[in-house]
Amino acid sequence: MTTETKILLPDAEMPDAWLNVASLVRDEFPLPRDGKTKQTLTVQALASRYSEECARIEMLDGRYGTDLYIPIPGEVMDEYRKYRATPLFRAKGLEKHLGYGGRIWYKREDFNPTGSHKPNTALPQAWYGKMQGLRGLVTDTGAGQWGAAMAWACRNVGLECTVFMTRNSYQSKPYRRYLMELANGVVFSSPSEMTEQGRALLAEDPDHQGSLGIGMGEALEMVMKQKGLRLALGCMSYYAALHQTVVGLELRKQMDVLGIRPDVLVACVGGGTNLFGFMAAYLQEKLLDPGAVGPEMVAAESANVPSLTQGEYRYDYADAFGLTPQVMMYTLGHQFLPPKIHSGGLRYHGKSPILSLMVKKGLVRGVAVEQERAFEVGGLFYECEGVLPAPESAHAIAATIDMAKQAKEEGKNKDIVFCLSGTGYLDLKGYADMYGLKP
Ligand SMILES: Cc1ncc(COP(=O)(O)O)c(C=O)c1O
Repeated sequence: MTTETKILLPDAEMPDAWLNVASLVRDEFPLPRDGKTKQTLTVQALASRYSEECARIEMLDGRYGTDLYIPIPGEVMDEYRKYRATPLFRAKGLEKHLGYGGRIWYKREDFNPTGSHKPNTALPQAWYGKMQGLRGLVTDTGAGQWGAAMAWACRNVGLECTVFMTRNSYQSKPYRRYLMELANGVVFSSPSEMTEQGRALLAEDPDHQGSLGIGMGEALEMVMKQKGLRLALGCMSYYAALHQTVVGLELRKQMDVLGIRPDVLVACVGGGTNLFGFMAAYLQEKLLDPGAVGPEMVAAESANVPSLTQGEYRYDYADAFGLTPQVMMYTLGHQFLPPKIHSGGLRYHGKSPILSLMVKKGLVRGVAVEQERAFEVGGLFYECEGVLPAPESAHAIAATIDMAKQAKEEGKNKDIVFCLSGTGYLDLKGYADMYGLKP
């Protein structure tokens, strides 16, 4: 048995292409459609909302419909090299605490700039915008990880960045807003006075807490009314999921260095991008050889927003106002208003179409985790490993612990790997609230 506790990859081993899993399921993958006519959209129609390259990816246009590997542009690769490959750690303290005879590993996306997996897609999205000559990008954010990454990536290439931040997080999590503003991002509490839709909601309820779907709708309204702007999405789009596949390609190499085939892969799921990217290389294997024994894949969602475990698989709008195209996904309905929870990144009514398809095909299984339990295991992980997870990522740790306990009961020593999608050091207020710590 290996005694390694962390696996790094030399620069030369970094993946230089994204893994285009959708090309393997092209015929089964429903594309975005117009909500009124129900017709599949054209790249041109989508390009009025997203940057051209993102629209091409979303519609599986040209090489995106055929090529399994999409070379990463040199300029993006230069940025990735500054922080990738991320290390794979072994959670020996947690194994000991659980009395678990198998091994638990975690991929450290919390080490990335701005502290989460989000820059893996923010960087290429900003670069596409720059190449197209856009003025800026507009987006929505929940807990702030996505907004922080997008503002930083835009700053990097000299684009403007506007962020509609869910009011709940805007008020309770100012630190990530400071990160956005430090990078010259302009941040509005959503619903806001900046858009018609926002004003209408505030007129009904001046204390409206907002949601990711509302933020996205506001961002889109701004894009449609002003020149030179496009929408950037961190969690619902196929392009964001595609960019995250660098994580899974690295993971497979790291597991190969260890000579281990993982038995279980776990990730938390808001829209589905960290999960999809992290599992992509193993999803590829399962899609190419459905009979092969591959890892069990577990998606840990918030029990407060149970789209995978209780939602329907159908076409729905990605935003709350029905301004976006409709996409095929597991959804609770686009007007679902999630309760006020700390894991802002998991407060979304649907799951991205590519992850939804993987769940529909039975390759990934959803489980729901209560918020209190997530904070409890987040604190436990800090005690055992000295690493404080983002509350979102703590949902994955809870599911990992459940899988380890189950393996223990069955007398099996499994290799379980989870994605630590983000750091929790800017979520200390949430931890303090849950643990009853005094201000
Ligand atoms: C740290 C972290 N993990 C997970 C998520 C969920 O997003 P996704 O499912 O797209 O990875 C978010 C979203 O904001 C996040 O910030």
